[in-house]
Amino acid sequence: MKFPSNFYWGSAASAYQVEGGITNNDWAYFARQGKVPDAGLACDHYNRYEEDFDIAKDLGQNAHRLSIEWSRVEPEEGKFSEKEIEHYRKVILALKERNLEPFVTLHHFTNPIWFAKKGGWENERSWDYFSRYAQKIVNEFNDLIRFWITINEPVIFSSHAYLFGRWPPLKKNISSAVTVFLNLIKAHKKAYQVIKECGGSKKLAGIAESIVYYEPYKNRLAEKILSFFADYFRNKYFLNRIKDYQDFIGLNYYHHNRVKIGLNNPKYWLKQNENKEVSDLGWEIYPGGIYQILKELSQYKKPIYVTENGLADARDEKRPKFIVEHLKWVSRAISEGADVRGYFHWSLLDNFEWDKGFGPRFGLIEVDYKTLERRIRPSALVYAKICRENAIQLNF
Ligand code: FCB
Repeated sequence: MKFPSNFYWGSAASAYQVEGGITNNDWAYFARQGKVPDAGLACDHYNRYEEDFDIAKDLGQNAHRLSIEWSRVEPEEGKFSEKEIEHYRKVILALKERNLEPFVTLHHFTNPIWFAKKGGWENERSWDYFSRYAQKIVNEFNDLIRFWITINEPVIFSSHAYLFGRWPPLKKNISSAVTVFLNLIKAHKKAYQVIKECGGSKKLAGIAESIVYYEPYKNRLAEKILSFFADYFRNKYFLNRIKDYQDFIGLNYYHHNRVKIGLNNPKYWLKQNENKEVSDLGWEIYPGGIYQILKELSQYKKPIYVTENGLADARDEKRPKFIVEHLKWVSRAISEGADVRGYFHWSLLDNFEWDKGFGPRFGLIEVDYKTLERRIRPSALVYAKICRENAIQLNF
């Protein structure tokens, strides 16, 4: 199964999850109060990025998704740190020297403390603050970056941080969550314009959105209707609102939900683990879902990049098959017309998994958090073969 030429093969990460030493954002602030886990030194990727990119290159990858930590580059409102901007310039150059095309995310869940203190994403000028930061970064790196991702998973961010109370600012308020969601739409549109004004048609921008594959459990009418609405509000609403403001769609695929109306339960529920094959986090492994979603997203008539896909699997027992099976489905979607142009495995390294701390192991590379030693997992070699050959052998 051949992939298109010029296909991007990489892995994805975000600053706070791997860099270490970030003290000036809302996560670090809440961690100091003991309300969320502390990322501390994480993988010390801030100092070891060259070593890590060497490994990515040796593994046959030709692209890498990373994020810029807003709190580093704008530590105080309106004051940018030249030192940190220079750091990211070195990081990006290190990627380019290794022929790893950078895909840069501007917002991956974390916010500077000054921004959080102003009410964070509930502030009616939040999108304005964000676009000032976007403008600065895009101006600085305009000649180096072609692919920009404005915001990572706006639906997940607004719900986890403002509705479910799991992430800073730990709110459980539906009207806050809606306000944030709408501000993120504005923020994306404004950042998109900034990128286009700066770079014109050569610069490409989009968001990365986590899309769930909703499947009616027994194809009953009520389940179909519920699946339709779940898909509409959870997956499509944001995309529809920004459809004229994106050059590509970034798909993060992790979840499959069977929408079931229970006979012994007047309420419906989403049943996840039907086939019992789950990751260490209990997330069902369902490779066919990526195919369904890619076909569905084709209606937007934009190129698609799989900006995240992976699993927590400390023993690396399921990851090799996971990668191969998902990519077979991606390949099938492509052969049926889906315009998929890249795949980024989540993640290169084990890293800080937000409210779950360092327990879940998502890396192609294992990190020993005591010594910070990196160890390549067997699945990384399986993935490397696919990246190098730009194909999956059918006997895999
Ligand atoms: C996604 C996030 C990413 C990582 C993976 C496992 O929702 O974008 O940062 O935590 O889940």
